Amino acid sequence: MTRIPSHGRPWPALAAELEAAKEGDYAWRRGRVPLYVYWLNEELARVQQEAYRIYWSENALGMRAFPSLKRLEDEVIAMSLDLLGAPAGAGATFTSGGSESIFLALRAARVRAAREQGISEPNIVIPQSAHLTFNRAADFQQIAVRRIPTGANRLADVAGMAAAIDANTIALVASAPNYPFGLVDPIAEIAALASARGLWMHVDACVGGFLAPWAKRLGEPVPDWDFSVPGVCSISADLHKYGMAAKGASLLLMRDDSWRALHRFESRAWERGPYAGYATTGTRPGGAIAAAWATMNFLGEDGYLDCARRILRARDVMVEGIAGIPGLEVLRPAGMCIFVWRATDKAIEHNALAAALDRRGWLVSRQQEPDGFHLALNPVHDEVAEDYVADVGAAVREVRGTANEDLRGQAVGQTY
Ligand SMILES: Cc1ncc(COP(=O)(O)O)c(C=O)c1O
Repeated sequence: MTRIPSHGRPWPALAAELEAAKEGDYAWRRGRVPLYVYWLNEELARVQQEAYRIYWSENALGMRAFPSLKRLEDEVIAMSLDLLGAPAGAGATFTSGGSESIFLALRAARVRAAREQGISEPNIVIPQSAHLTFNRAADFQQIAVRRIPTGANRLADVAGMAAAIDANTIALVASAPNYPFGLVDPIAEIAALASARGLWMHVDACVGGFLAPWAKRLGEPVPDWDFSVPGVCSISADLHKYGMAAKGASLLLMRDDSWRALHRFESRAWERGPYAGYATTGTRPGGAIAAAWATMNFLGEDGYLDCARRILRARDVMVEGIAGIPGLEVLRPAGMCIFVWRATDKAIEHNALAAALDRRGWLVSRQQEPDGFHLALNPVHDEVAEDYVADVGAAVREVRGTANEDLRGQAVGQTY
């Protein structure tokens, strides 16, 4: 279709067309997509769809018109602050996603440094493993990024970060966990460094914010990373990842609610009158807030613990299963929900293996450094972990000693 049709078409025909259009997509409901999707089951999806529908047209830009939406947002924020060990007086902003949360965190650090220290050419010091969206957020705001190579353990190198700080540094960053390896940085040490140097400290828990607390309760070793760590100023935590909410939902949480003013825009220089907000966006979908609220209340602690239990079990089955296939290895330690595996036997060529897995219906997510296969698990992987291991085994047997150029976009660097 290249232009809007002259006459509208009935919904049943459109619905059928949309369903048919999806036929060639990967089967994410059956765990075939190891990124992008956080899926428990149809029941939770229906709850979210209904909640979204009830607040379908409400616009969170205008809370004056929709006080009920403000209450839902406040409750989502209060529940999240409680989960992440925030002290009294903390606050948060509901955003469209992890990238916006990170954008606002850097904005706050930049404004504070400009006001209090007159820094006009700021830089941030972050581990190499921090998400690339930090570079995008920094680029938009003319902030230089100093990415410090991680140590041999693939964790942030605190001494290296300390050495990179100069008079123009405004913030340090650490991940809980990072996306490439799923590992939690030594956040207490980095936060202590930030405090000692008077710097903003942001923890990127877009992945772990709504998983790490439950995983820890289930016995997973997770170092301290949240507001219980002195010196942590802000945390990004994605509701639309392991918060299991509908997409378009993340939080930027601040140790002190008044710091949110640092990323607030406000102006009256307009015929129309004042315009103000904490987010980068104007219109904000009420449905995303309602769906997040409904998800948290529908799952409850039991539900989140169940999600975490499923993810950890899937991780254990996959990690042990893959490590048991001759010629393969899993990078250790595996993260709580993310891990990377690769072939160590030269007769098993990664491109051929990727193509063989793709033929079996698995979307392959290739790690660039080191060359390998990356998985970010979600609860549905609990149901298919054994199938994945079996298919990896079969794919290895199939491709041993062969190379394959028919990659269908599964090559290294085609992660996105
Ligand atoms: C650790 C981490 N931070 C930030 C982001 C960005 O989140 P979003 O895609 O919601 O903008 C991601 C996305 O995968 C992530 O893994």
